Amino acid sequence: MNRSLIDFLPEHAALDPVSFHMPGHKGSKLYKELGYGHILDNLMDCDITEIPGADNLFQTEDVILSIMQKYQKLYGSKRSYILINGSSVGLIAAILSSTKRGDKVIMARNSHKSIFNAMRLGGLEPVYLFPEILEEHGILGGIAPDEVERLLQENPEASCVVLPSPNYYGICSDIRAISEVCHKRNKVLIVDQAHGAHLKFMDGDHPEAAEDGGADVVINSTHKTLASWTQTAVMNVMTDRVDLNIIEDNLQILESSSPSYPLMLSLDVNAEILLDQEKKELAFGEWKKAVDMFYAKSHEIPGLKVMMDPMLDHTKINIDMSAYGLSGNELEDLLMEKGIFVELVTGNIIMCMTGIGTRREHINRLLEALKDIAASRNLVASSEGPDHSPMLTMRLERAAVPESKISLNLDDCEGRVAAGSIIPYPPGIPIACPGEIITKDLIDYVKGLRQMGEKVIGVSQMGEILVGE
Ligand SMILES: Cc1ncc(COP(=O)(O)O)c(C=O)c1O
Repeated sequence: MNRSLIDFLPEHAALDPVSFHMPGHKGSKLYKELGYGHILDNLMDCDITEIPGADNLFQTEDVILSIMQKYQKLYGSKRSYILINGSSVGLIAAILSSTKRGDKVIMARNSHKSIFNAMRLGGLEPVYLFPEILEEHGILGGIAPDEVERLLQENPEASCVVLPSPNYYGICSDIRAISEVCHKRNKVLIVDQAHGAHLKFMDGDHPEAAEDGGADVVINSTHKTLASWTQTAVMNVMTDRVDLNIIEDNLQILESSSPSYPLMLSLDVNAEILLDQEKKELAFGEWKKAVDMFYAKSHEIPGLKVMMDPMLDHTKINIDMSAYGLSGNELEDLLMEKGIFVELVTGNIIMCMTGIGTRREHINRLLEALKDIAASRNLVASSEGPDHSPMLTMRLERAAVPESKISLNLDDCEGRVAAGSIIPYPPGIPIACPGEIITKDLIDYVKGLRQMGEKVIGVSQMGEILVGE
């Protein structure tokens, strides 16, 4: 029998782990530090339903409306919606609200799976924007405004443009320039800011929040970097280009009719922290000191490469120790042995995700661990460059999306048309989508990931995928 979650979670907590992964609060300390400890003591009693006085997520007029109004004020939106099924549901609702069946949508090929799912649900035709590749680091960069312009010229009938900013590694796109390009043609720009809910509230030098850059709809996973709990998010509607009644109708179709009150409560706490100058300065000040300390001290570790880029949201720390002959996966394992858990590995890069609950003690643990690893190994002759993940460059041919599907073993799928998505997780970006033609390279790559123990959604335990009949 497999281990139970009832055993696993306390065992994990007993390790005194350091979280460089979602969620952003990094544990109960943050709420206690900011005066919300009592909420945690009575959490189970907060798990109620729509009794009188508790309002209704889909017909807000009281306590839930007040949370939405707080976010409206915080982000300067025309209307903000709190979401209890993550940014995923907000992205799908925003796309379905900006399109009609059969429409073309210009979307980043490195989008999260929820956006591909919106294409399937809405019967939409994706036109792919390919991001730049940051050769020096072997990762995907931002989306160039010129590329959006070119695709809009070629597809003037497209109804909206959807892209992530920041992307998973923290690289932002120039949303101000992309908004101008979209609005010149009166197209809706939807920004997946799942990784950048905090950008609006940061001081100092950092990429601009999409809300300030002119996007029409911006979806933020407040759980990823701020203080609300996993599955919570906020959708900000900034302009009149999308009808609020249509958005509300789509949200009530897509979300549970029993939204969790503890989750909504955490969204209220998060909003209060951001609105209270003293609490906000305390939390953001400590977070910034911690992140700054990492960048200031990282040069003490010889051979450690730390990603720097003018479009990088520096709260995402991307590091590379290939100078010691370590791949990203090997480095992740060594850190895990020291109780440090990271968010993502791509090639030689590991991404350490900080959040509002990150403190200098967490960064010290990371720096100490990296120093120990460096001290226990020798620098190796420099390699030819970053180890590129095939996800960066693989472009599959496309055919019609199959009408009927069958399951086939991966080994028998070369040349077949995918009928489902194949999604390495994280980062949750499909490597093959319905209608794309499966190649030998793709099969080998997916098999390699599975052999390394990586999770690949869309491939069954027996190694089968869905293809056209
Ligand atoms: C780029 C991106 N967009 C959207 C999402 C979905 O966000 P959520 O987990 O809040 O549904 C994710 C999740 O990891 C993501 O990485």
